[in-house]
Amino acid sequence: MTTRKLSWIFAARVLAVVLCVSGVAQAMDSVPKAEYRVRRAALSAGLKGGVAVVFAGTEPVLDFMPFRQDADFYYLSGWIEPGAALVVIGPGPETKTRLGDIVPAHGYKEILFLPARNLVTEKYTGIKMDAATAGVAAATGFDAVLPMTALPEVLTTFVGEDRRRGQNIWSQTDVPAAKASVEFLAASLGVAVIGNGANDVRVLTMGLRTVKSAAEIELIRKATDASIAAQIAGMKAIKPGVRERTVAGIEIETMMAEGCERPSYAPIVGAGKNSTTLHYSSNEALMKAGEVVVIDAAGEYSLYASDITRTMPVGGKFTARQKEIYDIVLGAQRAAAAAFFAGKMRLGNVSERGPEVTDTLDKVAFDYINTHGKDLHGEPLGKYFLHGLGHSVGIDVHDPMDYSKPLDKGMVFTIEPGVYIAEEQIGVRIEDTYYVGQDGRLVDLVAKLPHETTDVEAAMRK
Ligand code: GLY
Ligand code: MN
Ligand code: MN
Repeated sequence: MTTRKLSWIFAARVLAVVLCVSGVAQAMDSVPKAEYRVRRAALSAGLKGGVAVVFAGTEPVLDFMPFRQDADFYYLSGWIEPGAALVVIGPGPETKTRLGDIVPAHGYKEILFLPARNLVTEKYTGIKMDAATAGVAAATGFDAVLPMTALPEVLTTFVGEDRRRGQNIWSQTDVPAAKASVEFLAASLGVAVIGNGANDVRVLTMGLRTVKSAAEIELIRKATDASIAAQIAGMKAIKPGVRERTVAGIEIETMMAEGCERPSYAPIVGAGKNSTTLHYSSNEALMKAGEVVVIDAAGEYSLYASDITRTMPVGGKFTARQKEIYDIVLGAQRAAAAAFFAGKMRLGNVSERGPEVTDTLDKVAFDYINTHGKDLHGEPLGKYFLHGLGHSVGIDVHDPMDYSKPLDKGMVFTIEPGVYIAEEQIGVRIEDTYYVGQDGRLVDLVAKLPHETTDVEAAMRK
């Protein structure tokens, strides 16, 4: 065989391995690979010339148990396999030490560290990539990919060049492997602690994750569309005598058939008195005619969550009292959405509902509920709105966000007022997931799922 022919065969084999392995790693949708690098570069700007070391989640001991990637690691890498780490070095200027030595300027650097392949466990888990796999840098989108064993040396070399960098090590302070890595770095440098220990990298990633890109919003839209289909299937399955769990199963089946990899939280199907328990999830009761049923169920699509709740009459028709409460909750949701103003309004929460609060959507919804309708004792209904109005949504269904700051362009969050009157066994929650467009307008991703009582009743019959 000629050398030329041999190199073609080699190239074809390399391509086959890359396709095969990247097929394993990239079965899901993703934002464009270049976007992850933009995120890493944005993170590097906050490192004060230091280094971020972020670990992936670890493989469960029993490898058939579910694995979900660490949210911040995924946000920065797009890598869904367990057992990796990444390092991002932020650029820093030339400086002088106290002894007068020049420390040269250093530039941006990013490295993905992958564990060595284990051909035995791959019989259980399927083929993995490691740093020696041909084409791994292109497949992962990182400037460099090294084996995990190189991580201590990279960290020790960078911080050892100028120990002041030890003040700016950013890591997951809640992850044992990340903590161990920082402690080993200190040991490698011959000290007990480096800097004051690691800074919490999640403080920096929170700021980045709060504002979603167009590609992220598209993934949340896909999660939401699949979840809308699930909610509609659930509505049709509600009948007296049907178990709550049966409806939960139908919702899970539908969202997965529509492309979700899993529910984004344990589905809640609570009828009658269970409708008044906020996070009821045993879903074990049989539904009875005359009850309302709260269904809080949604899926995650390519690791992006949605979050939706609807409330239905088990017998197919709301009573006058159920409709009265339902319309108050719906009115509160609409009042909050109408009061939205990008860059001005915050979400707020239950602990700030006093007369002095004028800039939160939560307060708008609370005021609406508290000034419409009464309980059986003639009291206002505000005290039955037991939880905050909403939360940020993203890779996590409760995505990190600084709630003291106003909502703004690119943010994704829920508006989910609820009234839970245990005495009347009536719980109503209506929850949609929204995003703020680049024009500052609020867009309801769940707009096409019925909101009005008559539309909910009609959807149950269809
Ligand atoms: N599904 C959980 C929540 O609404 O916050
Ligand atoms: Mn929610
Ligand atoms: Mn919910």
